[in-house]
Amino acid sequence: MSALIEFRSFNKFFGEQQVLDQVDLRVESGEVIVILGPSGCGKSTLLRCLNGLEVAHSGSLTFNGRELLDKGTDWRDVRQQIGMVFQSYHLFPHMSVLDNILLGPLKVQKRERREAREQAEALLARVGLLDKRDAFPRQLSGGQQQRIAIVRSLCMNPQVMLFDEVTAALDPEMVKEVLQVIQGLARDGMTLLIVTHEMAFARAVADRVVFMDAGRIVEQNPPEIFFTNPQTARAQQFLEKFSFVETLPKKAPEKELERL
Ligand SMILES: Nc1ncnc2c1ncn2[C@@H]1O[C@H](COP(=O)(O)OP(=O)(O)OP(=O)(O)O)[C@@H](O)[C@H]1O
Ligand SMILES: [Mg+2]
Repeated sequence: MSALIEFRSFNKFFGEQQVLDQVDLRVESGEVIVILGPSGCGKSTLLRCLNGLEVAHSGSLTFNGRELLDKGTDWRDVRQQIGMVFQSYHLFPHMSVLDNILLGPLKVQKRERREAREQAEALLARVGLLDKRDAFPRQLSGGQQQRIAIVRSLCMNPQVMLFDEVTAALDPEMVKEVLQVIQGLARDGMTLLIVTHEMAFARAVADRVVFMDAGRIVEQNPPEIFFTNPQTARAQQFLEKFSFVETLPKKAPEKELERL
């Protein structure tokens, strides 16, 4: 059976620079993939190619068995099935929460207002923000706006969701509420591709970790293996950066006090 998403020998250049290098990646329906790797390794570019925001140079990329790199691909249609949420949420400031969410379902999908509104309200309730349906984006916290952005994407009924560092711009106390929403989607069996720097979350949510370096996938493993026994030196170095704080020697508070 063919995978839901499959990159094969996939290459992408920006000018002379090759930013994706012979990428081979299969994603089955219902899988939760977390993509990790150092800054500039190509994580965002990989997601953006899947959403038609970047054009590939060569190789193959299929979605439901359909080749997306063909010239005739209707990206507007694909984007309804592959939702994407970024670090910045880009809600329209002059529109209420509900109108922001309903824009795609009504204008793009031409759905019935009542039916779409019912779904929007159910999704808002699910992320704990039903009472904010008539608020404007400026009246909401960053974490609330990001949850609205997720609802806006979900309300198009996509088959897959792509998340690119959706908590990177948020204050620490708002990160958890957004990650919990994503974890709920994972639990429901939705297919997710997630780029994040939240390692504890990555470990908890991933079925498989894809580690990239310099445009290549260098390692793919279940989180139990990736985080405890990374197979490549590059992955080991990458993980060491994240464990730095935890491995600092603990202060001996008694000694500190004695010196005072
Ligand atoms: N529009 C662009 N034009 C030229 N080069 C680009 C463009 N977008 C990205 N790049 C380059 O492509 C490479 C991969 O970038 P990408 O944004 O995919 O990395 P990333 O893994 O998402 O990094 P980060 O963790 O910092 O978000 C980088 O070297 C970057 O400078
Ligand atoms: Mg990025």
